[in-house]
Amino acid sequence: MQRIYLDANATTPLLPEVFEAMRPFYLEHYGNASSIHQQGQHARAAVDHAREAVARMLHCRPAEVVFTSGGTESDNLALFGVLAPGDHLITTSIEHNAILQAAQAVASRGVEVTFLPVTDQGVVEPAALLAAMKPNTRLVSVMYANNETGAIQPMDALAGIAHAGGALFHTDAVQAGGKIPLDVSPHGFLKEVDLLTLSGHKIFAPKGTGILYVRRNVRLSPMMHGGAHERQRRAGTENVPGIVGLGKAAEVCTDWLKTDGPAKLTALRDRLEQGILAQVDETGVNGAESPRVANTTSIYFDHVEAEALLIALDLKGLSVSGGSACHSGASEPSHVLTAMGLSPARARATLRFSLSKLTTEAEIDEVLKIIPAAVAHLRELSPTYNKTGAVGATN
Ligand SMILES: Cc1ncc(COP(=O)(O)O)c(C=O)c1O
Repeated sequence: MQRIYLDANATTPLLPEVFEAMRPFYLEHYGNASSIHQQGQHARAAVDHAREAVARMLHCRPAEVVFTSGGTESDNLALFGVLAPGDHLITTSIEHNAILQAAQAVASRGVEVTFLPVTDQGVVEPAALLAAMKPNTRLVSVMYANNETGAIQPMDALAGIAHAGGALFHTDAVQAGGKIPLDVSPHGFLKEVDLLTLSGHKIFAPKGTGILYVRRNVRLSPMMHGGAHERQRRAGTENVPGIVGLGKAAEVCTDWLKTDGPAKLTALRDRLEQGILAQVDETGVNGAESPRVANTTSIYFDHVEAEALLIALDLKGLSVSGGSACHSGASEPSHVLTAMGLSPARARATLRFSLSKLTTEAEIDEVLKIIPAAVAHLRELSPTYNKTGAVGATN
C-alpha cells in the first residue's frame, strides 16, 4: 500500500539532498570542529557554512545563530537563559509543551508566570498582552504559528508591546520555519524579536537539530556548562553532520519560499478542507478565520472519536494526527483547542492534517475518498450521531 503522509507538523522526512550533504561528515570528514588539524578545520568550515545559511534564512548575523539539539532545547534555553527569580514571564495557553513545561519549571524557581488566553480563532490579542505587562516583566514568549491549527500570531504588535514595556521577546517559530519568510533584520516583520526557536526536523533536516536565534547584545546564560562552543551559549561538541543538514535544509527552504510553492500548497490544503466539508456533514475547521500557515488544517468531525478515526485512516494508509502528535497516547483533549473554547468532545473529535511541499494533488484526491467513508463508518457506530438524526436527515 502506498502511504500518504499528512503529518508534516509532527516531522518531515529528510530530503535526499540534505542527506547527501550530511553523508561525508559521518564517513570522511569526521573531525571535531574544535580540533586544530585539517580535519578539524574542515568540520569548522562546514559548521560556519551552515551557520551562514541559517543566518540568510533569518536575515540575521551568523554570530546570532546558536545550534542546539532541537526546538525543545532552544525553547528551554530561551527561558532559562534569560529569566531569574523575581522576573515575570508572559506566555500563552496555546504554546507547545516545550514552552509550557519550561514555564512551569521556571515558575518553581521563583519566576512569576502569566499565561495569556486566546480568541476562539486561536489568536493572542495584543490588548491582552498589554494588560498583563508589569514592571518586572522580563520576557514575553509567544509562538509564531500554532502546531495544531496553524494560526499565525501578530508578532510585530506583540513584540512591540514587550519592548515598550522593557521586556525581551521570544518566539517559538518551529511551525513557521520553512512555511513563511522569517526576517529579524531592522527592516523585517520580526525586527523586534530578540530570540527565535527553529527545529530541524520540521524543515526536512534531521531530528535532534535546531537553533536559537539570539539577537546581539541579548545576554543569555548557558543551560549546559562545559566547553566554550557556540560563543559560550551552548557547550558540547558540535553535531557536525546534523548542523550541515540543517544548513542545507535552510537553503532549500529559503529558495522554496521564493517560488510559487507556498501558493500551490495553500491551494492543496484548501482543496482538502473544502472537499471534506462538502462531503461530510457536521464538520468544521478550527481557527479558519485566523491567518494560518499554508500547510495546516485542524478539522472536527462531530460524533467521532479522533483516535478511532486516526486508527481507521492509518489502516487505509493515511498518516494524520489527533491534536498534537507529542500528546499521542494521552486521552486529555488538546489544550490548544480547549483554550479556543472548543468543548472537550469537539476537541476529541478533531484531526490535524499537515501537508508539505512533497504532498501531491493525487494524494489529496485519494484522501478525499478515504475520509468520508471512514467517518461514515464510525458514525454508524456512534449513538450520539444516530440520536441527532443527522444520518440522512432532511431537516
Ligand atoms: C511549536 C513547537 N515547538 C517546539 C517543538 C519541539 O521541537 P523538537 O521536536 O525539535 O524538540 C515542536 C515539536 O512538535 C513544536 O511543534
